[in-house]
Amino acid sequence: MPHERLKPSFVFDEERLNQLKQIVPEAFSDGKINWDTLKEALGEYQEEEVQDTEHFGLFWPGKREARKLASIPSKGTVVPVKGEGVDEENTRNIFIEGENLEVLKLLQKSYAGKIKMIYIDPPYNTGNDFVYDDNFTEPLEEYLKYTGQMDEEGKLLTTNKKADGRFHSKWLNMMYPRLRLARNLLREEGFIFVSIDDNEIHHLRGIMNEIFGEENFIDCIIWKKRYGGGAKEKYLVSVHEYILFYAKDKESLDPIYIPHDENAVEKYYKYKDDNYSLRGPYRTHPLEAGKAVGDRKNLIFPIPAPDGTMIIPKRQWYWSKERVFEAIKNNEIEFVKGRDGWTVHSKQYLKDVKGEVRQSKAFSLIDDVYTQHGTKEMIDIFKDPRVFPYPKPTGLIKALLNIATEKENNEIILDFFAGSCTTAHAIMDLNKEDGGNRKFICCQMPEQCDKESPAYKAGYKTIADIAKDRIRKAINGYGKSAQPEKTGFRVVKLTNSNFKQWQDYKGKDLKELQQVFEHWQSPLVEGWKEENLLVEILLQEGFPLDSKTGYLEKYNKNKIIQVTSAFCEHKLLVCLDKNVEQETIGELVLDSEDRFICLDSALNDEQKVRLSDKGFLKTI
Ligand SMILES: C[S@@+](CC[C@H](N)C(=O)[O-])C[C@H]1O[C@@H](n2cnc3c(N)ncnc32)[C@H](O)[C@@H]1O
Repeated sequence: MPHERLKPSFVFDEERLNQLKQIVPEAFSDGKINWDTLKEALGEYQEEEVQDTEHFGLFWPGKREARKLASIPSKGTVVPVKGEGVDEENTRNIFIEGENLEVLKLLQKSYAGKIKMIYIDPPYNTGNDFVYDDNFTEPLEEYLKYTGQMDEEGKLLTTNKKADGRFHSKWLNMMYPRLRLARNLLREEGFIFVSIDDNEIHHLRGIMNEIFGEENFIDCIIWKKRYGGGAKEKYLVSVHEYILFYAKDKESLDPIYIPHDENAVEKYYKYKDDNYSLRGPYRTHPLEAGKAVGDRKNLIFPIPAPDGTMIIPKRQWYWSKERVFEAIKNNEIEFVKGRDGWTVHSKQYLKDVKGEVRQSKAFSLIDDVYTQHGTKEMIDIFKDPRVFPYPKPTGLIKALLNIATEKENNEIILDFFAGSCTTAHAIMDLNKEDGGNRKFICCQMPEQCDKESPAYKAGYKTIADIAKDRIRKAINGYGKSAQPEKTGFRVVKLTNSNFKQWQDYKGKDLKELQQVFEHWQSPLVEGWKEENLLVEILLQEGFPLDSKTGYLEKYNKNKIIQVTSAFCEHKLLVCLDKNVEQETIGELVLDSEDRFICLDSALNDEQKVRLSDKGFLKTI
């Protein structure tokens, strides 16, 4: 078995290259792309020779850099923050405190193709939003300064003013690499929803079409976000915004049905008859058409009323004669006598003839849950709506969850502009309602709260603090009923890697060069901690953050940590001790795909050979 050095790796481009290799293997020779062969393989799909500027698509200054930014590996990692979560050991819900571009990069290997639904609610670029200003050269360093993990205070969030020349470009530069990385994380039957309003919908749709493919566009959902209002509006009372809805691969999807909303059932299915035990309650629809439909000739005929009189439609019926008489026989037609005579109604039962609840489809218009509900939730949770103004209402996210997720299967939902964590709250509430086991990963940067803000005065230094406290409060029930036992979450935080960052030495001083070599004797930073390094190893090896880890008691000469996950068929055995003892090596049992990971300095050459004979060895 091979022995490799463990190195930080990044799979974004690697994976795409591999996919291309699968499709056009002839275009690769000696590990490089042969452009001429690739062009030949593409044949008629090649764009004709045109000027660069004439390509179809959405272009803006900085797009090339934005695209590149997605492929620069992160120099960071995430470390566990113990004590800020709830039931941290057992939970699979994760809150990540950090900048989302870096975080998305770190998740690439472990979560590629694993996320069922992404919901994001990014800044809308209203002219007053803080928009993250990616620093191309040292992205992580700037972030660490900003969050006080390095000396100076950085300036990453700047208000994007409409008067700025690059108002739209700046926003697009921020969104583009994040969406590109997000797409990799979706399962083939996964979905993404992006909230947006008229400031950027047209641009957003352009980049979503480019990244997710126009053919994967499902709908542009209209959310009627408020009721009332208007006196201040100059032109129209604008009451809606949008949610762009795309699939990862529309071709692989089954039709989407949503569960019946209990409230709607109560509201609309009000009647009962002799069919109740099999078909449940029913609602009625008039059988007489208000306007001409279908083949009129066959839809105009008399229907006998219960008192023997004949009912003639003013225009026509919706149903044919055969269908109506069959329905009368089955007690599926209702006659109502009013002042002007009889009216005829068809019954729609909740259940079909087999007694199964009819499935329903979601609408592209959501108009029963409003911003006012989100504000009310803030009051219930924090006693003050100003702690986080205008969050999305949980009801809105629940409607999307019902479209895109199943209650079983431990599906993972990601929100990387989490704000106050409405998404996490909605997931926990929906699980409570339908007995589901959906999991969340929410990422929010520790954006500082203004010292004069109600949030700061309430004790929250950052938006991430508000988010974490909301999740805790939602778990405990904030005066209402608590989440079921075993609902928890754990917190991890973006920070510098445990691996030293390579810096080229360009000088000629031998002594300095020697120091550089000494510095590189250990690839790990001074003072690294076992539990932090373990998480970084997990991510590098493609294991998710909720992997199970535990010491293996049977090895008593060394501390051996076993890492397993439902996502991975093999396991990791990790030993971060200074030396790996002979007895440990002797006793070690590795299955064919398992990996043993330890410090390079913990083994001599002969031990490395012995271990490589046993299985896959990786050293740090
Ligand atoms: C519109 S809010 C989301 C509100 C959320 N849907 C809710 O209901 O509470 C957008 C959030 O994204 C966060 N954000 C902006 N840029 C970010 C970045 N680069 N990384 C992580 N979070 C970011 C902001 O701090 C803000 O809290």
